[in-house]
Amino acid sequence: MMSKNIDTPVWSETLLQRFEVPFEFPVCFTENLFALQNRTLVDVLCRLESSKRHKVLFLVDDGVAAARSDLITQIKNYCEHHGESIELIAEPIPVPGGEKIKAELQYVEQMQKALYDYHVDRHSYVIAIGGGAVLDAVGLVAATAHRGVRHIRIPTTVLSQNDSGVGVKNGANLFGTKNYVGTFAPPFAVLNDLDFVMGLGDRDKIAGMAEAVKVALIRDGEFFKWLEKHADDLATFKKPPMAYMIQRCAELHMKQIGQGGDPFETGSARPLDYGHWSAHKLESLTRYHVRHGEAVAIGIALDARYSVLSGLLEPGEEDRICFLLEHLGFKLWHSALEMRAVDGELELMKGLRDFREHLGGELTITLLSGIGVGIEVHEIDDGNVMESINWLKSRQEY
Ligand SMILES: NC(=O)c1ccc[n+]([C@@H]2O[C@H](COP(=O)([O-])OP(=O)(O)OC[C@H]3O[C@@H](n4cnc5c(N)ncnc54)[C@H](O)[C@@H]3O)[C@@H](O)[C@H]2O)c1
Ligand SMILES: [Zn+2]
Repeated sequence: MMSKNIDTPVWSETLLQRFEVPFEFPVCFTENLFALQNRTLVDVLCRLESSKRHKVLFLVDDGVAAARSDLITQIKNYCEHHGESIELIAEPIPVPGGEKIKAELQYVEQMQKALYDYHVDRHSYVIAIGGGAVLDAVGLVAATAHRGVRHIRIPTTVLSQNDSGVGVKNGANLFGTKNYVGTFAPPFAVLNDLDFVMGLGDRDKIAGMAEAVKVALIRDGEFFKWLEKHADDLATFKKPPMAYMIQRCAELHMKQIGQGGDPFETGSARPLDYGHWSAHKLESLTRYHVRHGEAVAIGIALDARYSVLSGLLEPGEEDRICFLLEHLGFKLWHSALEMRAVDGELELMKGLRDFREHLGGELTITLLSGIGVGIEVHEIDDGNVMESINWLKSRQEY
């Protein structure tokens, strides 16, 4: 390489900076996480540095704490028992569960203040226990305090164990827009304890299964057949099939994120968002009275029918998909699908515009060309959307 002449520097030069940062985090499947003999959490804390006491701060979804009155005591006993490796720097802190924690940034700020007050440093661990909403908000806190402290997620709903918790995103809602503020920040580890989901209410147990149907439809036809075969046992929440459904779904999400070529979503495609463009709109139109998973089930059915109408999917396959979803306990109709704005436009079509705006660039929607095979399209026909809505409505009128 020629040495530079410092007497005549080239000020118009462009230097290209380039580096890669590898990411790696364990996703552990366990039961009874805080039983004294369960070493999952200790082993994860000691994964990089085994011979020290690790400072930890727990932030706990208050809905989970209410459902498990012994949880806080269990956590404290566990940390005391493993005192050679764990230093509990404060009492576990309850935080609001559900969308409330994401809806106002005051909660994010309060949690940042707690990290500040307890001197959480970049080698300490912030451990979030809760549903997807709490994990999203705490993830944002951990990613921004000190520009990023170590964050361990302990998801407690089906949806957060099989989908959101194993991903790399966090966020909170701002300016009336869901997840407007957030970062891509892989966690230090994810610990899925089956006991939490088995203790959930039926509605939330069912809701999270929509993501398993979704990922099976776009990536794994065999998994779809497995879901069909075990639909009865899943609908009655039998433990072994629930465990497999969660684990396989989480694994497929991890594979897409890790090997799909775009973990931080810089392109326009979002294969994991199959069925989601209408689902997001349906959630906001119903002011989140419809759960994310419930809206996704409707979105899956809508886009399956749309795939048939566009000539991509064989007729009859959409019935098969709807039958599975209904068998699992989903309702595939909501009157908000027909809501119109004052200008007469279907509100749902506005959802498509929001989706395009969020992606930036070219509109990319995943549809189906077969069970287990997603396909990307760049245009959506309003007439076929309307026909798909009418079809869903006519099905529920039988
Ligand atoms: N970051 C991502 O990639 C991603 C992906 C999908 C969804 N999400 C987000 O996840 C959120 C939805 O998460 P969710 O479906 O897990 O529900 P949730 O977090 O909204 O929780 C629902 C309710 O269940 C309670 N709860 C949680 N676990 C419980 C348990 N084990 N026992 C009893 N009650 C419990 C909570 O307190 C809350 O009241 C949304 O905000 C959505 O935007 C994020
Ligand atoms: Zn989803």
